[in-house]
Amino acid sequence: METEKWFVSDATCHELYPQPIRDLARRHWTPLLVAKKAASFLVTDPGVRILDIGSGAGKFCLAAGFHYPKAQFTGIEQREYLVQYANAALETTGLPNVSFIHGNFTQADFRQYDHFYFYNSFYENLAYTEKIDEQIEYSTELFEYYSHYLYKQLCNAPAGTRLVTYHSLETEIPTDFHVVHTDINDYLKCWIKV
Ligand SMILES: C[S@@+](CC[C@H](N)C(=O)[O-])C[C@H]1O[C@@H](n2cnc3c(N)ncnc32)[C@H](O)[C@@H]1O
Repeated sequence: METEKWFVSDATCHELYPQPIRDLARRHWTPLLVAKKAASFLVTDPGVRILDIGSGAGKFCLAAGFHYPKAQFTGIEQREYLVQYANAALETTGLPNVSFIHGNFTQADFRQYDHFYFYNSFYENLAYTEKIDEQIEYSTELFEYYSHYLYKQLCNAPAGTRLVTYHSLETEIPTDFHVVHTDINDYLKCWIKV
């Protein structure tokens, strides 16, 4: 009951964070409805391991972990201060099936995970997009490098791997991933590798 109160609405969930992090939510953090829909597709079995590629302040993993307590949700995030806020929110909610890693997603071992969530994490590298902060370098080259790196990881994933994208430009998705469901005006796409 204590944990539940954080996931009643986006507004209550954002109370897990200080104001500057809440202010980023509209553009950068997954809405609760989207997290719930994405997780319902990604959680195929109890114990399934899901990686959020670019986990920000942890909202997707926390919401998904709350709704699916038997699945394991891990987020990897390049900005250390966001990982700290994610871990603080994790401590407040007390969810045992969620964890966060500070690092670039290129350091993640994709073989440790069954399915993946991706909220257009590399987009801020493109010109004229809203940035989370001005503390890192942005470039089109980085966008292309990360997109291609993710593409190659997904190429190596086994058949049956599931992916949910939210607002993706789809440059990172190999052709053997097929869309099986869309939602939220097609911004949310559910993919399965054949
Ligand atoms: C749109 S936000 C989504 C956050 C979270 N997945 C959610 O839905 O609430 C994308 C996040 O990806 C992170 N990110 C971007 N490139 C990354 C990289 N190469 N490695 C790790 N994190 C990255 C950004 O710092 C940002 O926090």
